[in-house]
Amino acid sequence: MGSLKKSSLWALPLLCFFIVFSNNGVNASHKIFPELQSISPVDVKNVHRTGYHFQPPKNWINDPNAPMYYNGEYHLFYQYNPYGSVWGNIVWAHSVSTDMINWIALEPAIYPSKVFDKYGTWSGSATILPSNKPIILYTGIIDANQTQVQNYAIPADLSDPFLSKWIKPDNNPLIVGDMSINKTQFRDPTTAWLGRDGYWRTLMGTRWVNKGIALLYKSKDFMKWIKVQHPFHSVDDTGNWECPDFFPVLLHGTNGLDPSYKGKNVKYALKVSLDVTRFEYYTVGTYDTKKDRYIPDNTSIDGWKGLRLDYGNFYASKSFYDPSKKRRITWGWANESDTVDDDVKKGWAGIMASPRKLWLDPSGKQLVQWPVEELETLREKKVHLSNCKLNKGDKIEVKGITPAQADVEVTFSFKSLDKAEPFDPSWTDFYPQDVCAIKGSTVQGGLGPFGLLTLASEKLEEYTPVFFRVFKAQDKYKVLMCSDASRSTLENATTMYKPSFAGYVDVDLEKTKRLSLRSLIDHSVVESFGAGGKTCITSRVYPTLAIYDNAHLFAFNNGTEAIKIKTLKAWSMGKPKMNGLFGHSSY
Ligand code: FRU
Repeated sequence: MGSLKKSSLWALPLLCFFIVFSNNGVNASHKIFPELQSISPVDVKNVHRTGYHFQPPKNWINDPNAPMYYNGEYHLFYQYNPYGSVWGNIVWAHSVSTDMINWIALEPAIYPSKVFDKYGTWSGSATILPSNKPIILYTGIIDANQTQVQNYAIPADLSDPFLSKWIKPDNNPLIVGDMSINKTQFRDPTTAWLGRDGYWRTLMGTRWVNKGIALLYKSKDFMKWIKVQHPFHSVDDTGNWECPDFFPVLLHGTNGLDPSYKGKNVKYALKVSLDVTRFEYYTVGTYDTKKDRYIPDNTSIDGWKGLRLDYGNFYASKSFYDPSKKRRITWGWANESDTVDDDVKKGWAGIMASPRKLWLDPSGKQLVQWPVEELETLREKKVHLSNCKLNKGDKIEVKGITPAQADVEVTFSFKSLDKAEPFDPSWTDFYPQDVCAIKGSTVQGGLGPFGLLTLASEKLEEYTPVFFRVFKAQDKYKVLMCSDASRSTLENATTMYKPSFAGYVDVDLEKTKRLSLRSLIDHSVVESFGAGGKTCITSRVYPTLAIYDNAHLFAFNNGTEAIKIKTLKAWSMGKPKMNGLFGHSSY
């Protein structure tokens, strides 16, 4: 897990400085604890396990792999340690579902067994070939130095509705890096797409010194691949790129597109996961198919400060096209914020953030995400509030649901922007997270902070606030959205990672004078969607008092401008079937 995980907040700017100028040669991938890798959990601690987020019964998980839809079933593979709750012994665990909410666990689909993957089966993606044939590209580790090659696997039996067995044919590996490639950082092939010239294309993440690179490979028959000499895209000083994701998005509407789509009215998005920071960023841009290059628009930053799919615990995300509902869906790994010792004691680590539909915002400048509609089938008991005024210092409790396992949608409105606080020009160089650390939920403001106090204990010894704060910058209003873990737990006060995750929200408040927020609250995760999914933040938190029936939910305002809750709807969320083994009665 990332080196930033346990650093305290004040050290963040300093730490970033250190990383930028010193990461030459540093391998920031998963921290390895050989002595803990194969300690099977004696028992699994339930208190912070989630009710409706994807997770296996025990052990470590990381990246979602090869999500796909095939003949009525959704498949989710993921990096999994069958023997312990820290990273190591990685296999591809495999689950299937008809709705992405209720899951059945199958046997691992891909695991080290051949010369081309004996030391590891790392991340990869699925492509549906013509005649509806799925194929997986994944990274194999071939020696103790972590030399990486790209392999393929195919279903043993296409008539098996679950595609439970996968074969790794003997003509693997398909791709071995040439002399110019850093072979220990050359991995995570994307879903392939078919160009007009009849060639398939796939990307891999790598780096050259500190330059992050997406390498492009081409193939006529999917078996023989050649490297395109120039990088598909690269950015100086971003370090190694992991888990690239590249896909077309429609200029208008929320439908998704098959990666090989060749029609008009599209833009493209390239997302990369940054090994050094353990955050991701993306850009929206164009794809020059003649030159085989991706060119990001100049509307957002192409680097560490770029737009993120999620500003919190969210990494190694991967999207896929779901033809059954004509949508693109992305999955992300919501990594833990507790310590390795905690993970060993818990007997599990890692969950998936909820599956999110993803599309291009009408502005063309950013992506928008929203939990898939299927999640709403879990909504149970509901409360509804409307037109409640919150003066400065007010808070109201949302009663009548189960706040530890809930879905909340709220729209706040206000009369005027006049009280928005000035935006300190020196903050322009800060990450939004650093601004949130200064301007937390208890620091009184003008317009905001207002929002929700999730996973709160009755007397507020613990809570995770998700809130907005509006600033007046020189030429426009800036809306900051925060999900702040700093007071989320009384435990491990000094060692636990409790960041004040934050992102800006690109909305025109002058017109609407309202802001909406949806939070999926689930015991140790608060996954929030600001302004209809323009800014998303996932926090992993570990309350000690605000657990089960002792968790509370409040709405609050700590700004001098009065706020109205226009509408608030909250639901208790049910518990889906979550990864019981196929054929076993326990699921
Ligand atoms: C991202 C990652 C990938 C790699 C996998 C190994 O979290 O480091 O680059 O393939 O995890 O588990």
